[in-house]
Amino acid sequence: MTMRIYSVVGARPQFVKAAVVSRALAEAGIAERLIHTGQHYDTRMNEVFFEELDIPAPAVNLAVGSGSHAVQTGETMIRLANYLLSLPRPDWVLVYGDTNSTLAAALVAAKLHWPLAHVEAGLRSFNRKMPEEVNRVLTDRLAALLFCPTETARENLHREGIVEGVRLTGDVMLDATRHFAGRAAAHAPLDTIIPYPPGSYYLATVHRAENTDDPARLDAIVAGLGALGKPVVMPLHPRTRHRLAGRSLPEAVRVMAPVGYLAMLTLVQHAACVLTDSGGLQKEAVWLHTPCITLREETEWIETCAGGWNKLVGADAAAMVAAVRDLPEGPAPCFGQGTAGRASDVIARCLQEPVS
Ligand code: UD1
Repeated sequence: MTMRIYSVVGARPQFVKAAVVSRALAEAGIAERLIHTGQHYDTRMNEVFFEELDIPAPAVNLAVGSGSHAVQTGETMIRLANYLLSLPRPDWVLVYGDTNSTLAAALVAAKLHWPLAHVEAGLRSFNRKMPEEVNRVLTDRLAALLFCPTETARENLHREGIVEGVRLTGDVMLDATRHFAGRAAAHAPLDTIIPYPPGSYYLATVHRAENTDDPARLDAIVAGLGALGKPVVMPLHPRTRHRLAGRSLPEAVRVMAPVGYLAMLTLVQHAACVLTDSGGLQKEAVWLHTPCITLREETEWIETCAGGWNKLVGADAAAMVAAVRDLPEGPAPCFGQGTAGRASDVIARCLQEPVS
């Protein structure tokens, strides 16, 4: 009998991960039903990803939208449970990463007594003030299959006493970066996105609440970006746009609307350096041999820091300037490779094996 999987996605980074995992599931002959919670809904945060990454249209969009963490998580649980109750029991409910959609789906699956599998399990920042950290810890606690992108992730789970169902697979985001980098070069060349030649600009993204919602931190980051000595290209997350509205920005900071995945890969590849508080972008930068400076105090992806390729500077203008003056020269760290072929294929195989 064909295996049945319900995958739940809702936010930008999950669309990228689902793009490669959905393809691997289809190639393995597994029937997948893609469920979109609607956490991200703006065209530039949503449709554009489905179009350019060839993700199958979701079977449903629950249109949950924005709200407080409680409202967003609770509303997702209610709508998802109502939807799932009309469907037969699946072999797996598959969730990705650490968003409110992830946790809501994990809780719903657990309460329906349906088996849960978690892609990107075991990531930890050890900072419980981050909503994502709470989402990860709880989702990992509920999952029966836990797909770890790195050995560090597996060790984190081990330390929490989670050993059963843990699989070291490699990182599906590396699959996506490799798969789409060529397409980005062909379909989203740099000169169609910005008027700066390769290496002549920095790329910055800021969206985490700890940075956007604390005026002192946001001020420091903006001041730092203005003092780097090159133009700073900054695609703006809607919340950051809202927080920066009405403020005058330094001349060097060139804000733009959020860009799709292909344009982002192009921008990363040709930047002199990436400055970000995103999780995924830190990895994409290092995989594409672009140094990264992280505007946070900690990172889940410690592998990126080897050889100085990712420096944690927090929200400190002077530290940002010092970091761009001291970019790494050695080879970029290599991590996240699939443990037996592409990580997404490893995951498709693991889903079909008995769990021990
Ligand atoms: C979410 C994830 C975060 C991930 C990020 C990627 C959680 C807790 N966080 O954060 O881990 O890195 O997605 O982008 O789930 N908004 C829009 N249009 C949209 C989406 C959001 O205007 O399409 C605005 C709304 O004002 C909303 C705010 O952005 O209140 C925050 O959106 P939300 O989905 O709650 O979290 P993100 O910050 O995007």
